[in-house]
Amino acid sequence: MTTEALLHENRIFPPDPAFVSQANISGMAAYQALCAEARQDANAFWGRLARENLYWHRPFTRVLDESNPPFLKWFEDGLTNASYNCLDRNLQNGNAKKTALIFEADDGTVSRITYQELYHRVCRFANGLKALGVKKGDRVVIYMPMSIEGVVAMQACARIGATHSVVFGGFSAKSLQERIVDVGASALITADEQRRGGKSMPLKVIVDEALALGSCEALKHVIIYQRTGSAIPLLSGRDHWMHDVEANQPDNCEPEWVSAEHPLFVLYTSGSTGKPKGVQHATGGYLLWAALTMKWAFDIKPADIFWCTADIGWVTGHTYIVYGPLAVGATEIVFEGMPTYPDAGRFWDMIARHRVSVFYTAPTAIRSLIKAANAAPATHPGNYDLSCLRLLGSVGEPINPEAWMWYYKNVGGERCPIVDTFWQTETGGHMITPLPGATPLVPGSCSLPLPGIEVAVVDEAGHDVPNGQGGILVVKRPWPAMIRTIWGDPERFKKSYYPDELKGYYLAGDGAIRDKDTGYFTITGRIDDVLNVSGHRMGTMEIESALVSNPLVAEAAVVGRPDDMTGEAIVAYVVLKQARPVGDEAKKIATDLRNWVSKEIGPIAKPKEIRFGDNLPKTRSGKIMRRLLRVIAKGEDVTQDVSTLENPAILQQLKETL
Ligand code: PRX
Repeated sequence: MTTEALLHENRIFPPDPAFVSQANISGMAAYQALCAEARQDANAFWGRLARENLYWHRPFTRVLDESNPPFLKWFEDGLTNASYNCLDRNLQNGNAKKTALIFEADDGTVSRITYQELYHRVCRFANGLKALGVKKGDRVVIYMPMSIEGVVAMQACARIGATHSVVFGGFSAKSLQERIVDVGASALITADEQRRGGKSMPLKVIVDEALALGSCEALKHVIIYQRTGSAIPLLSGRDHWMHDVEANQPDNCEPEWVSAEHPLFVLYTSGSTGKPKGVQHATGGYLLWAALTMKWAFDIKPADIFWCTADIGWVTGHTYIVYGPLAVGATEIVFEGMPTYPDAGRFWDMIARHRVSVFYTAPTAIRSLIKAANAAPATHPGNYDLSCLRLLGSVGEPINPEAWMWYYKNVGGERCPIVDTFWQTETGGHMITPLPGATPLVPGSCSLPLPGIEVAVVDEAGHDVPNGQGGILVVKRPWPAMIRTIWGDPERFKKSYYPDELKGYYLAGDGAIRDKDTGYFTITGRIDDVLNVSGHRMGTMEIESALVSNPLVAEAAVVGRPDDMTGEAIVAYVVLKQARPVGDEAKKIATDLRNWVSKEIGPIAKPKEIRFGDNLPKTRSGKIMRRLLRVIAKGEDVTQDVSTLENPAILQQLKETL
């Protein structure tokens, strides 16, 4: 999908008056009033919202401490607890008997848990963790399938003030080990196995492999949720079943009252250089934004059934499965499986059966379900009763207008607004998104920033560029859910997000353009060496490091190319230590290398294409010309001047695909 394709869509869909009349933010004037309030006195605005939306065990006396930029502190002397806000508050608000989570397993088995039951489970597990010696400030890695137990694990950590770091269940043993070491985890929570698409994946075995890689001495306990009951080896003293940890523990657990700045979690994400960065989020500001964006962007109401299809291993799952919905007392779906199992009608069938009213998914999923519905018409959403839906959301990557229109017509019945939410691991929650009861929708544009969020498009010196001209997306003013630092690497935090030339603005790492007439933002893609494959962030450097760690490989360069289905696809150019392979040998080595990357990082990092060369295109000073590699990856001709290349002939060779 190209930027041009995104920008050539100019139909506008104004909000339906029936939706507007019931919306939490009703009409443009209401949105503008909130924006004006924030502009006039940002601290008063955020202070008011924090007092109204969260429980404070001890009220904060100062909203924002900017004395040491870019290390800012929000509501710092306020004491709170994320789990208390998500659970206890609901028991007091009359939600005790309300269903908190509806869990649907891969095989279709459904179970439900009320707020009261969830509270007790979290308390028992929190007490169990304490009994093992886990305490405030400790780090706990969570490597779990989508499950009620995954939510319990995260909430229990929050309850006792332990900082969790969830690692997506698709990451390899090596990726898991790197994160355990970097965050200094003293406990790890996992499952015997994970079920997806009718298959089992051996999570505990991967954990054992990760720990065998070494440097994990700080890790004292491995706690295992018994998901499938398959036989797994247990290491006496280190390994414990989750049900044993919970057993005989009291049903209540006094929350650990922490400063609003206490690190709630660290979540690793890819950057343009080096190893993944541990994005550190604070408790108060993050939770405030999780709750507010549920109310604003998702217009959440007590009767809603909310379904975010993300995995808890990504930030979308953190904010819109584990913290946001519970903080506002919603009922939500937790789904273990995948959209195409047992067939591509799974999402639509689940929406109809559970009467989902607000549905949030990624463009890649929509595109793959369009394709599947074309191939197997029985899986088309038109076959299901989706009249329960009232609002749709999209996240993770740009949504192309064709996918937007299909989603709007066939899933939303031309009745449901679509909120195309732009945000990042680092922003904690939505940043630029339509408000469903206020913003006229333009397919392919995430439209306008939320109240209190001051975003702009600037040039490399931080000067605003005129509307209609592309540039760098920045956030000019701090917001409560902003990343606090990179775990253990404050210098990298500063350099990555607050480079000197940008005058204190937050650098998102994306390009953007504002429409001349509407002022709407359209995201044009990453401006650094980060790829977005199926809505997953991948650093090209990480994939290159994985490739060159293979004994056959001398050099590798990785770039992205546009892909109709996954947004971007990974293309790797590889120089082997041996002669350049051709024919079947090349195919075999390419397959081996793809599997190698999968083993090193995880299946999501597998290059779609591998091309072999005698060399890579380099400048005379030895710098790889990635720009040219991107051009030939797309199958386009190189029109740029290549006279600075040391070896221009190599381009011809690298154009060949296997
Ligand atoms: O490039 C943007 C893209 O995803 C990146 C953030 O990835 P991650 O931290 O993994 O978080 C994904 C879920 C929030 C951004 O820098 N991105 C995210 N949402 C959108 C998007 N690009 C265009 N439109 C979006 N709605």
